[in-house]
Order: sequence, then structure tokens, then C-alpha cells
Amino acid sequence: MAKAQNIVILTGAGVSADSGVDTFRDPDGAWVKNDPVKVCTPEGFAADPALVHAFYNARRAQLPSVDPNPAHFALAKLEAETVKAGGTVTLVTQNVDNLHQRAGSERILPIHGHLDKAECTSCGKVHHWTEDLSTETPCPACDAKTMRPYIVWFGEIPRGFDEVEEAMMEADLFVAVGTSGSVYPAAGLVGFARQRAIPRVELNLEASDNATLFTEARYGKASEIVPAWVDEVLSS
Ligand code: APR
Repeated sequence: MAKAQNIVILTGAGVSADSGVDTFRDPDGAWVKNDPVKVCTPEGFAADPALVHAFYNARRAQLPSVDPNPAHFALAKLEAETVKAGGTVTLVTQNVDNLHQRAGSERILPIHGHLDKAECTSCGKVHHWTEDLSTETPCPACDAKTMRPYIVWFGEIPRGFDEVEEAMMEADLFVAVGTSGSVYPAAGLVGFARQRAIPRVELNLEASDNATLFTEARYGKASEIVPAWVDEVLSS
């Protein structure tokens, strides 16, 4: 593969699976154990905020005990080497954990929000947050007890997607890592890359919903296949 200069990488829960973070749609996934309508929609939050807070409090509390795995580090290395060679890497992540940040990736577009942030729906302020949230949690800025997880729920608009589209216009390589390709607009990116006729690589445990749209695929555990693929790309 010719040395790519402007790479867009889309990651999903599968890139963090080997760090011990649940995916959503695998047999033991979060949407098997919980009803996403109840815990991942504005309607669910309005109906039962305590249930939603409990779901995210449990995931937030896990963050200190999980670490980036070799897949996260390999993607950070790909960015560092590509930038050194005068190129760009834009890492569009659907994940809300902080593992890409902790692995050293810099240009990250977290389109589904951050588990370690909380938003006040009265004053709009977004705060770094590591503790539990409840309906009794006062906003540090305005004191209103109207805090919510800083997560994009189903039916809400992913953040920064205009920046994602700008990066896709310049991309000469698109890579999807650890995503089932089942949630739009993220799942539509490979189709956009196909329209631009650029190489499209899928690195996943198994074929995703839109596997047929990729020009190349490697299947296996991300912590194994992503470092191998990055080393191949960097030595090509
Ligand atoms: N290595 C690589 N891939 C893996 C691994 C692993 N160890 N384990 C699982 N996978 C793959 C699965 O085969 C699956 O294709 O990761 C993918 C995970 O898919 P989902 O659970 O659907 O997660 P994701 O694609 O990130 O979901 C997208 O849906 O619910 C929303 O907002 C949520 O961001 C999430 C979005």
C-alpha cells in the first residue's frame, strides 16, 4: 500500500474490548445486558434518570481499572509517524472511554461524547467528571441539580461531524477498527470513502455489517491485528 498521507480511522468498542471494556452488541455486550432505549436515549433519561445514572456510573467507575491495549498504542504510533512524515491522522472514535487519549493519540474526534465528562442541562457547562452522578448532583458552575452524562444518546446529533466530513474529503486511506458498522452516521463513513475511491481497510474480530464495502480486511483481536497492520503500513 502506498504511504498514506491523510488517514481517517474510525474506532468502535472492539478496539477497547481487549482492555476489558464491554462492547455493545457482542453476546456479553452492554445492549444485551441493558435496554438501550431505557439507558441511552433522552426519553429514557427523562423517564428514569436514576437508571441512566446507574448505567453510566458503573461504566465510569470502571475507567481507572482499564488501560489502553496494544491497538490503542499502535494507532497513536501510526499518527506520530504519519505526522512526522508530513501527513495527518484523524481518529474518529465512537467510544466514550479515554483510552485513545491515554495511549497518546492527539487528533481525536470523540463523536459520541466522553464518559469522564458531565454536562449541566441548565447552564450548559461541561465538567471533567470521575465520580458518580445523580439527580441530586449540583452543577459546580450554577448549582442546579440537572447534570447528565456527556454522552451522545440515540436520537441525538453526534458531535463534531462536520470536522469528520472535512477530514474524509482529504483522506487517502480509511480504516475502521472494532466497530459493527451498525450505527449511523459513523457507519456511513466507509460508503463515503468508497465514493471517493480511496482504500478502505476493516480491522475487526469478525465481518461487520458493512464488510462488503471495504477493499481489505484483517480479522482477529484488535490488540494483535492492529499493531501488525500498523507496522506493515509504516514499513511499506
Ligand atoms: N478485537 C477486535 N474487534 C472486536 C473485539 C476484539 N477483541 N471484540 C469485539 N470486536 C468487534 C465485534 O465483532 C463488533 O463488530 O467490535 C465490534 C463491536 O461492535 P458494537 O458492540 O456494535 O460496538 P460499536 O460498533 O462501537 O457500536 C457503535 O453503537 O450503541 C452505540 O454509541 C454506541 O458507540 C456505540 C455505537
